[in-house]
Amino acid sequence: MAVWANVKYLHDPVLGIETSCDETSVAVVRGRNVLANVVSSQAELHRQWGGVVPEAAARKHTEALIPALGTALKISGCALPDMAGIGVANRPGLVGALSVGVSAAKALSLALAKPMVGIHHLEAHILSSLMAADVEFPHVCLLVSGGHTELVFVKSAGEYKKLGGTIDDAAGEAFDKSARALGLGYPGGPAIQSAAEGGDDKKYKLPAGLRGPTLDFSFSGLKTAVLYLARDEGESLDVPSAAASMEETVASVLAERTLRACEETSAKAITLVGGVAANKRLRAKLKLLASERSHDFVTPPFDLCTDNAAMIAHVASWRLAKGETDDLRMDTLASAALPGG
Ligand code: KG4
Ligand code: ZN
Repeated sequence: MAVWANVKYLHDPVLGIETSCDETSVAVVRGRNVLANVVSSQAELHRQWGGVVPEAAARKHTEALIPALGTALKISGCALPDMAGIGVANRPGLVGALSVGVSAAKALSLALAKPMVGIHHLEAHILSSLMAADVEFPHVCLLVSGGHTELVFVKSAGEYKKLGGTIDDAAGEAFDKSARALGLGYPGGPAIQSAAEGGDDKKYKLPAGLRGPTLDFSFSGLKTAVLYLARDEGESLDVPSAAASMEETVASVLAERTLRACEETSAKAITLVGGVAANKRLRAKLKLLASERSHDFVTPPFDLCTDNAAMIAHVASWRLAKGETDDLRMDTLASAALPGG
């Protein structure tokens, strides 16, 4: 099987299961190659509440998981006995939601007598770039999603050092809450992005959070400023320009700090992962700044950036190849440090 840097994978297919938040996903991969990646999103269900309701998410996973498994097997052309093992996201996340995927993985592992390994959801996001390209190590990873904003120094697969992160809201959360304040839809990121088209990104001056030579972020002031802006301007608010100003503020601070993280480490490349990596303005900014400083820039395709089981199976294929397994007592955790961090 292909080897990249210190990453060696199992030859046979691996099944992946992801239920940490509001996407039910089952995938089959062979090393870095995705044979099937089925994602059933609950966004429609949670829209009525303007955010993810944990118990509703867990119930929906129970309903959607087995059909997603059937579809993934069909698309991949594989049968369950063909699997070399099973990887499941078991940390961090909503524990009720995670438990649905972990219970299914345990049942499959027991019934098929196949090894199983619990995967750290953020490690899976961080290494998702390897499925898209031969990323050089060490590199700096900007992981931005609805629940996380992290700058991580990736020395090699399995060796991570957190360089900075948010002290309050995650970047995706800032998009979601600002979109709500502006009367746009849920999830907020895509809604702000499309509302911002044609807007003037310099019309409203919004706070970018922490100042000075830090690698941390703060987005709660920005969210509040957007709320006050909407309240104060009322009917006269220029929504496209408010959305563009908000998007520009977030993209600029994320890009600027990622470049600083590269300067402070010996990083050769930059990777951008997580749901907010879908943001076109952020992608364009980071790509430009990286090329100006001769850093490689890698961001996986959109379906590997948002929550998905292919990234879980990918890490499982590598960890199982190293002989790592978990037994049937495996737990789920709401929060967990990165492995090797
Ligand atoms: O990684 P993800 O699918 O789930 C979590 O683990 O959180 O990320 C979801 C987040 C949401 O906050 C959503 O608003 C944001 O990613 N998002 C975007 C865009 N598409 C999704 N944010 C900005 N621009 C986008 N185009
Ligand atoms: Zn995620």
